Amino acid sequence: MSRRTDLAGTKNVDYDKAAEVYDQVRTGDPEMMHQILSEVLLGRNSIILDIGCGTANNTLLVSRTTHARVVGIDLSSGMLHEAKNKAPEIHLARASANHLAFENRTFDLVFMTEVLHHLADVPPVISETFRVLQASGKFCIVTQSHDQIDHRMTTRFFPSTAEIDKGRYPNIEVAKKHLRAAGFINVRSKPFTFARVPLGNEYLETVEKKGYSMLHKISEADYQEGLKELRATYAAGERLEYAPGYAFIWGSKSLR
Ligand SMILES: C[S@@+](CC[C@H](N)C(=O)[O-])C[C@H]1O[C@@H](n2cnc3c(N)ncnc32)[C@H](O)[C@@H]1O
Repeated sequence: MSRRTDLAGTKNVDYDKAAEVYDQVRTGDPEMMHQILSEVLLGRNSIILDIGCGTANNTLLVSRTTHARVVGIDLSSGMLHEAKNKAPEIHLARASANHLAFENRTFDLVFMTEVLHHLADVPPVISETFRVLQASGKFCIVTQSHDQIDHRMTTRFFPSTAEIDKGRYPNIEVAKKHLRAAGFINVRSKPFTFARVPLGNEYLETVEKKGYSMLHKISEADYQEGLKELRATYAAGERLEYAPGYAFIWGSKSLR
């Protein structure tokens, strides 16, 4: 039976349940993390916080690349359970991003990947992040812009997923306003498109298992229609290629 977390601070997605299969459909993203780490000067004495670290896929990449002290927090005990098994070197804690139990000016870098659209209330999380950053610290949010959502492969076959996700993912300009209101300076966003990758049978298999959470949010009729078209596309031998895209939103605590 799945344990449910206290969902204070997050929208109603049961990540304790999702934790059971999360790593079957998601991995850490070395290229994304490289993009983040190339913008900050970090060393062994740096301290980094991953907010909403989930099963610690990206947390681990950062820890192994920088050798800095890395801390991950997440609301879901199920996700943290998976994280603890594979990332014993990372300090993991169950906590809400709305109330970070750290001293003021602790971290050199705070990052958050694919979490923004889950937050029930974004401004308190941004203010807390500002508080726990050192004067020279930086904050990076990784999310998707509405344009990137429109260009997902899943949008081609299941167009109603795009409308739903554009309702969930905050607009990038709105998110930047929240950063400025919390005191961040040099606030900027940068879209990033990865190299095109061919989608093999695993894409069809994941869709058939409804391995992408947005497939649970559309009507069964929309799902069946998209699945039929996707199967026909594979049967016709069309080579599907996809270039995943993310948007990075950066803010600095001060000019230092
Ligand atoms: C899509 S997963 C992303 C996990 C990880 N960052 C990654 O990139 O694989 C979203 C995560 O955010 C966590 N989360 C959602 N709202 C949160 C909050 N208010 N405080 C802390 N974690 C939260 C969820 O429990 C979940 O593990």
